[in-house]
Amino acid sequence: MPLSRRLLLALSETPWLRAHAPRWWFVKRAATRFMPGDTLDEALSAAEALHEQDLDVVFTELGENVTDIAQADTVTAHYADALARISHSGLNCELSVKLTQLGLDIDADRSFLNLRSLVELASRRNTRVWIDMEQHGYVDRTLTIYRRLLSEFQNVGVCLQAYLYRTKDDLSSLLPLGGGIRLVKGAYREPATLAFPKKRDVDANFLQLAGLMLGAVGSPLAPLLVFGTHDRRMLDTIAREADRAGIPREAFEFHLLFGIQRAEQIRLRREGYRVRVLISYGEQWFAWYMRRLAERPANVLFAARALMPSRRRRGGASRPTTSGGRIGGTGKAVGSSTQTWASHTNEVSSGASARSGRMDSARFRNEQF
Ligand code: FDA
Repeated sequence: MPLSRRLLLALSETPWLRAHAPRWWFVKRAATRFMPGDTLDEALSAAEALHEQDLDVVFTELGENVTDIAQADTVTAHYADALARISHSGLNCELSVKLTQLGLDIDADRSFLNLRSLVELASRRNTRVWIDMEQHGYVDRTLTIYRRLLSEFQNVGVCLQAYLYRTKDDLSSLLPLGGGIRLVKGAYREPATLAFPKKRDVDANFLQLAGLMLGAVGSPLAPLLVFGTHDRRMLDTIAREADRAGIPREAFEFHLLFGIQRAEQIRLRREGYRVRVLISYGEQWFAWYMRRLAERPANVLFAARALMPSRRRRGGASRPTTSGGRIGGTGKAVGSSTQTWASHTNEVSSGASARSGRMDSARFRNEQF
């Protein structure tokens, strides 16, 4: 793992920064690139704008590792309210939650009950709740809770991380159980004893696991299959392999994060794939934002640009970024290594959004697409 990534992930775990950095205006201004705002209202407005592009959404209120059970209950109540509001809005919107946000660090049973109440509500409202996957120490407990829920509900899904060596076994055991599986590469700092340290191996494993998932299409109790990535090489390979196997495009979903690869989101939807955009909102965004920076260290430049005086920023905004111009480190199992960075114009316009410091949904609606 490159030093820059390790450093950013280490910073994301620093309690002092988690507590203080969200109050620093310049960090907040930079973070707005990836979120429409702090509130559910702002998330709903962004969802409406995405709906106009025929894109569905997943909401997540940012926060993790709560240390007080009352806080976990407050988060649960917030999500219950969100489910009611989503239902009234008529938007096709799911939830994604972290178990440590629902109290897993304090009381596993309580976090299960909190999540169960949300899944039950979501089932009445005909929608789904996804469980994010956190650091490796949470994987067993997360999967235990997921399996427990599956014995009662099908409108629940779990995230699996391709960087963990164990994930192939986890996936094989979960595929025949229904529910939902969202495959991602993995966003945390993990030891080489547990996770592939090299990106090319993570990519190769992601595609291998994606192949296993596509192989489950059509089997009894196949889960809802989701590929959560912005990596065009992954997206294109999965699409191509699914086409080759005669799998209908609506048999699986692609999920991408709000503010990242927007042109891809629209392109995939226009080509007939089901696409959801994960919208994060809330005040506890620091650790999450640092993970976004770590995923693409060039994002640090966008963050720095957000701090520059407006005239200089305007000049800079017209230049396409060249970092990440090629997707490097081909995994053995995948195709071309020379795919060019296709969405710099979107990245630039999102840089412009970040510069406003605060997101105004109406303005965002115009800028985003
Ligand atoms: P990768 O990091 O390989 O980058 C490929 C290309 O994608 C980059 O060159 C760039 O073009 C683009 N890109 C990727 N990240 C970017 C960024 N932050 N900004 C700008 N461009 C970027 N992780 C986890 O551990 N637990 C979880 O529960 C989830 N949940 C989740 C849900 C959804 C819907 C998504 C899309 C992702 C997650 N993740 C996650 C995060 C995931 O593990 C991973 O860290 C990121 O998706 C980055 O990996 P990619 O596969 O997108 O591309």
